[in-house]
Amino acid sequence: MEKKKDIVLSGIRPTGFVHLGNYFGAIRNWVRMQDEFDCYYCIVDWHSLTTHPDTKTLRTSVARLMAELIGSGLDPEKCVLYIQSGVPEIAELYLCLNTMAYTGELEKTATFKDKVRQNPNNVNAGLLTYPVLQAADILIHRAVKVPVGKDQEQHIEMTRNYAERFNYRYGNIFPLPYAFNYGDSLSKIKSLDGTGKMSKSENQMNTLYLADDDDMIRKKIMKAKTDSGPSSSNSAKPDYIEGLFTLMKVVSDPDTVNKFETDFNNCTIRYGDMKKQLAEDMIKFIAPIREKISFIHKDEKYMKMVMENGATKARASAKATLQLVKDAIGLKYY
Ligand code: TRP
Repeated sequence: MEKKKDIVLSGIRPTGFVHLGNYFGAIRNWVRMQDEFDCYYCIVDWHSLTTHPDTKTLRTSVARLMAELIGSGLDPEKCVLYIQSGVPEIAELYLCLNTMAYTGELEKTATFKDKVRQNPNNVNAGLLTYPVLQAADILIHRAVKVPVGKDQEQHIEMTRNYAERFNYRYGNIFPLPYAFNYGDSLSKIKSLDGTGKMSKSENQMNTLYLADDDDMIRKKIMKAKTDSGPSSSNSAKPDYIEGLFTLMKVVSDPDTVNKFETDFNNCTIRYGDMKKQLAEDMIKFIAPIREKISFIHKDEKYMKMVMENGATKARASAKATLQLVKDAIGLKYY
């Protein structure tokens, strides 16, 4: 008999265009995992409402993100790609898991404290219980592997705590999930000015998006921060130069990277040439993905079909878990 594959769940918020930080920091692993495991990938629209209450652009953001994920290589035939709000069982489990979560712990969560600092006028309870909803996303499929970056590890640990508390109180339903990645396969992409990681909230000129056209890619890369070059051989690279090399490593061929590494080490590097080369290689990388995204996005019939099929498959798995949960708690009266 075929061994049952591990169940994988990850989520992404529909709050902006997909950039290279998302792609090389997460999505690339999702694509790789869909061939090996039973994968569920969720567009978490309820989560985005905790920080983005204005829903004027939600519909287009969700559709756009769905097309971007498929354009990046997720195959709706190989994984279950769905929208969170289409699976109400998640909300029901969230309600239940709220009783496993202590408010003291929630208030101490790093992401919560960050969000309070960033937006002191909208400290809603949804923000506080954000990790509980995330736990429901994961546990609703009894997933074990959760491909996420470092910043999400605390949420996965909280998920494990809720699962353990549930199992202890009501019976063993949930396997304990853990953050997963393939060793060194994730690249931390820096913002083009080298000041931090590439992100959607940053200045848009320092972020490369899968939607950027060729000229925009060129313009952003040519404006990326550099200096007059190293003055002694084999010096350490400043952050912003390291960032350019990281980008080159993910899109250029190894010989090209080696050439510029050598030039850097013997102080003959010309950053203008390096950036020109990087821009061309970046265009070769992004352009086909961008075109695929736009092709998929325009095909409304296909998009609708993918969304419906995803919801159906995700709900089948979610319903089965929720039934186990209700039986374990004893929610059966007639
Ligand atoms: N909190 C995650 C983020 O900000 C998104 C997310 C929601 C998620 N639910 C999830 C990630 C479940 C992994 C698993 O990136």
